[in-house]
Amino acid sequence: MELRTLSPAELCELLSREGIHRFFLVWDEEAGRVRASHPLLEPLARWLEEDRRDFDRHEGVFVQVAPESGVLQSACVHRTCRGQGAGGVRYWRYDTVEDYLRDGLRLARGMTHKNALAGLWWGGGKGVMARGTGLGSADPAARRLIYEEYGAFITSLQGCYVTAEDVGTSVEDMAAVYSRTRFTTCIPASLGGSGNPSVPTARGVLRGMEAALAHLGRGTLAGKTVAVEGLGHVGEPLVGFLAEKGVRRVIGSDIDPGRRELAGRFPGLDLEIRIVERGDHSVLAEPADIVAPCATGGILNPQTIPAIQAPIVCGAANNQLEDPERDDALLQARNILYLPDFLVNRMGIVNCADEQYGYLEDDPRIESHLGDTWDNSVFQLSRQVLEEAERSGRTPARVALDLAEKRSLDLHPIWGHRGAKIIRSLVRTDWAHRA
Ligand code: NAI
Repeated sequence: MELRTLSPAELCELLSREGIHRFFLVWDEEAGRVRASHPLLEPLARWLEEDRRDFDRHEGVFVQVAPESGVLQSACVHRTCRGQGAGGVRYWRYDTVEDYLRDGLRLARGMTHKNALAGLWWGGGKGVMARGTGLGSADPAARRLIYEEYGAFITSLQGCYVTAEDVGTSVEDMAAVYSRTRFTTCIPASLGGSGNPSVPTARGVLRGMEAALAHLGRGTLAGKTVAVEGLGHVGEPLVGFLAEKGVRRVIGSDIDPGRRELAGRFPGLDLEIRIVERGDHSVLAEPADIVAPCATGGILNPQTIPAIQAPIVCGAANNQLEDPERDDALLQARNILYLPDFLVNRMGIVNCADEQYGYLEDDPRIESHLGDTWDNSVFQLSRQVLEEAERSGRTPARVALDLAEKRSLDLHPIWGHRGAKIIRSLVRTDWAHRA
């Protein structure tokens, strides 16, 4: 039996049979190996060590079967040189344990890069909860329990990971998390938090689009056509901002028929809404000036890239390239300018980052990321990355990644590499057997 081919629910059953409530897979720098907390989990440790695609010496992967709800919950910490691993908690359905872990690994690494490029003193981490394990979330009380248990789990990790909202999780859910841990952001404004980060995220993506157009000498957004996949928390305000900028036509797709309600909401904009099947990515092939993936990841691949007609791809979705090396090269070969997600979708996490320092109307800290004057704003950094890519012949994603890697190794000016110390302490104090 291969552990990673089990479904998340089967893994939960197996762990429960074996009396394992939680486990870790921790990178041991000295030994150059992944350490598993239990012999049963050793095969997963060996698999991570051999994986070249998504495992990148992540400092720690922590997993629990939540004590009452039975949901498989995890925190994946990639790198904490710049500070605590920070990133949202996703509540999503996965077919296999491998899919579940890969998503956490990939997303956590993406957060390391995003946080570093945004200039935040945070490392990278991500939470993942598997739908279809334990209690369902349709009943509000069950849902609250799931997130409270996640909060307690985060507390047990002593602050090496700070969580936030992500796909499948709402700001209200974050209030339940917050009732059990201080290591969360994105809590509702009624509790002193910054609330839903999606509107600033949409504004950041818009600035990335403007940088790409300026780089290609194609002027402003006025009069352009933009294809948007996913009209959710980010996609919807993005359409509004595009309308404000004078975009002529938007073709928006979503799998949710409820999104039809957006039709007619933006006077003056020619907005076509298409309700599609989950696997239908035909909106990416529209003859547009810009394609904006704002739904799920992995949608830029050998099936979709050959059909893209737009010269620019710039959207909010995390991990848009199915295979980063291969698909980045495919886009370059087709002369499509791809702005990587971690370069342009930073505003969600930026919006959360300074929550504990209080916040202001039109917060200048936030606005500086969205303006033209700061050399590390979304617009200016995107311009620099695109110019360097053109100069060096590398892709924008490669240039952004190299810069992000370099910055992610800078040590926090006050706390140094404290996250790694916390993880070592969790190992020493037998975190996995304490539950
Ligand atoms: P969301 O869940 O509110 O919206 C996603 C929308 O995409 C939903 O309306 C869904 O029905 C639709 N969708 C799913 N599969 C689709 C498909 N195959 N074709 C068309 N539509 C499809 O999520 P949200 O918050 O808008 O985030 C969108 C993306 O941006 C996600 O990948 C998220 O990780 C990323 N992101 C979001 C941030 C935020 O502040 N909300 C910050 C950074 C990244």
